[in-house]
Amino acid sequence: MKKIIFYIIVALLIVGAVFYMTNKSFVLGRVGMSFANKPVDAATTDSVGNVAKDGKRVLVAYFSWGGNTRKLAQSIHRQVGGDIIEIRPVKPYPEGYKATVKVVKQELDSGTLPEINVAKVDMKDYDTILVGYPIWFHREPLVVEKFLRSIDTTGKTILPFATSGGSPIEASVTTISKAAPNAKLGDALLANDKGLVNPWLKKYNLIK
Ligand SMILES: Cc1cc2nc3c(=O)[nH]c(=O)nc-3n(C[C@H](O)[C@H](O)[C@H](O)COP(=O)(O)O)c2cc1C
Repeated sequence: MKKIIFYIIVALLIVGAVFYMTNKSFVLGRVGMSFANKPVDAATTDSVGNVAKDGKRVLVAYFSWGGNTRKLAQSIHRQVGGDIIEIRPVKPYPEGYKATVKVVKQELDSGTLPEINVAKVDMKDYDTILVGYPIWFHREPLVVEKFLRSIDTTGKTILPFATSGGSPIEASVTTISKAAPNAKLGDALLANDKGLVNPWLKKYNLIK
């Protein structure tokens, strides 16, 4: 009898472990962060040379470490059309959360903007740039600042959108406006509540 109970417990532990491994991102997503997803190759997510719906010239440019912002950016791109590119650090961030926090703190302390790898696009092709990112230490990640400083945003409408573990988006708006001083900065959207996305896109006539 004892042996049977032992085997049942072992079987339950194996089933539990398999469930946890296959649903890791879901389980961790519940606590506001997704550790399991790793960035996929930009070639599979970048899409350039498209005209947005209604003939508008729109670019979605995003950075994502864990996948939350990528999902959001892709969903916005599906609705709006136009082009989408991923901003990727030349030196990828570590896979683990703690290690990433350590690297990001060092970057912020040193004040050096990391080198980025991003599809070459001609900014003349766009009127509106939707810039997506996770909130990192209350602001946009430095790779996003690097991207904005490396393109000509003069006269472009920039619409920032972000996901976070709860922090607001406002501090990132201040740093973005310094990185793109000649752009027209629209309302920034913290999209932790997905229901806010469509009204925001409608406000800028990006969807009907
Ligand atoms: C290095 C690092 C710093 C973070 N800093 C904050 C923060 O200051 N405030 C906050 O609410 N969430 C913070 N987060 C959580 C992320 O903003 C949140 O999980 C976001 O949805 C992740 O998006 P992603 O999956 O696209 O990377 C941080 C996460 C990381 C990895």
